[in-house]
Amino acid sequence: MASSTDRPAAGSGGITADRLAVLIGRDTLHAPLNASLATNIRAMVSDGRLPVGSRLPAERELATALGLSRVTVSTAYRRLREQGWAGAHQGSGTWTRTPDGGRVVAAWVPGVPLEGQLDLSYTAPSGPPEVAEAYATALTMLPRHLPGHGYAPQGLPELRERLAARFTARGLPTSVEQVVVTLGAAGGITAALRALTDPGDRVLVEHPVWPNALDVLGVLRTRAVPVPLDPERTAEFVAALHRAARQTSARAAYLVPDFSNPTGAVLDVEDRRHLAASLQQQDVTVLADETLTDLPLEGQEVPPPLAAFARPGAVVTVGSLSKAVWAGVRTGWVRGEAPFLARVASAMSREHGSLSIVDQLAACALLDGLDDALVRRRAELRTQRDALVAALAARLPEWRVPVPDGGLSLWCHLPPGTSSSLLADAAEPLGLRIATGSRFGTGHAFDDRLRLPFTQPVPVLERAVELLVAARDAAAAGHGRRPAPREAVLLG
Ligand SMILES: Cc1ncc(COP(=O)(O)O)c(C=O)c1O
Repeated sequence: MASSTDRPAAGSGGITADRLAVLIGRDTLHAPLNASLATNIRAMVSDGRLPVGSRLPAERELATALGLSRVTVSTAYRRLREQGWAGAHQGSGTWTRTPDGGRVVAAWVPGVPLEGQLDLSYTAPSGPPEVAEAYATALTMLPRHLPGHGYAPQGLPELRERLAARFTARGLPTSVEQVVVTLGAAGGITAALRALTDPGDRVLVEHPVWPNALDVLGVLRTRAVPVPLDPERTAEFVAALHRAARQTSARAAYLVPDFSNPTGAVLDVEDRRHLAASLQQQDVTVLADETLTDLPLEGQEVPPPLAAFARPGAVVTVGSLSKAVWAGVRTGWVRGEAPFLARVASAMSREHGSLSIVDQLAACALLDGLDDALVRRRAELRTQRDALVAALAARLPEWRVPVPDGGLSLWCHLPPGTSSSLLADAAEPLGLRIATGSRFGTGHAFDDRLRLPFTQPVPVLERAVELLVAARDAAAAGHGRRPAPREAVLLG
């Protein structure tokens, strides 16, 4: 039986019997019907079509809508409860959950790669020469700061000014007071989610999703509510977010509006307008992660920030230099309203006091040269993306590989029967490390997907594809092996 904290939020909505019957599709059920119905509902919870925390229809109503006996539905609900996919409490009916309670605590990166091993588990480009130059500039600026105490909990004013000016130039007028500097986007996401939520709150997430966001939500003891995101159907995603917000009384949403990791999805201007209006109306605060915003690869304009479409305070924005420049600089930021930012700053200062002055001075120099550096970064990523797509088409033509027009990764659809976890297990001893598709989902979704970053040089990517071919053959021959449990640490 679920614990009381697993109950649906007060006032959370349910799905009607007729709608659930349409989603299930009577024709897809086969004997034994109760097991088939339970499996069907479970699949919808795990891939987010049926949000975690939704109230299921009364047994009698679903039985009527599907033309089944009530005993069949009742047995299916019991199976779901026994397997941890549903909870029930006197007076509050049956609602959906996941066996881990919606908490996903396994954001992952393997240990140190073995000698000669290719590591495609990160989406993080190498640092350009400008980084060293920026640190040299920072050291020349440092003496001016030495007479002070060296603490700057909200960030150096000159860095905040530059960040505010970039937002303003992108169509979102921003003052220095509306920006704080953070330890990477990761630091900003953690501090912002801590300030936005309480334990037990529902938080909508795009699905697939950057796994560390799920990890943070788990640590904060909130409930991730996955909402399916198909990069080719973003308007449907916005509509599904609206429904999920209504059904679960969600408090917040974590979204990556530009070049989502892993899918590369972008929300267009219309999507942004609808999304902002819908979530605002339902009092859901959005945390918009703009970590990949600077990476359009086809010369296209990226729409203005999501916050430009919402009233002040309804959208909190985080960003970072990690993907545009280099993750080693560890400079990110949060944009929001001043009272909220005061809470973010105090959450951060409890956690790590303040940030390095040298890193922030280097970040100022990097921002001054960012537009030129981005021209080179985008050209390099475009070449690498195209080479990886071409190698996959030549060597693994049975894979479906949508080509994103920005970002850092391909989200590959594996052919029926191919499991990305078996593939990863088979690839590891061959010298290739990859992140399995299921890392990007809640429950058990996406084992038939694989994220491949195009952040490494072309020869590395081409070699990786050869190793994937060998891994596919080894997995098919049953030669994959289960590696030891992996550590729970950051995944880029
Ligand atoms: C969507 C997204 N957000 C945040 C991060 C973390 O960025 P940072 O290195 O600035 O903490 C990543 C890194 O992969 C990411 O893909």
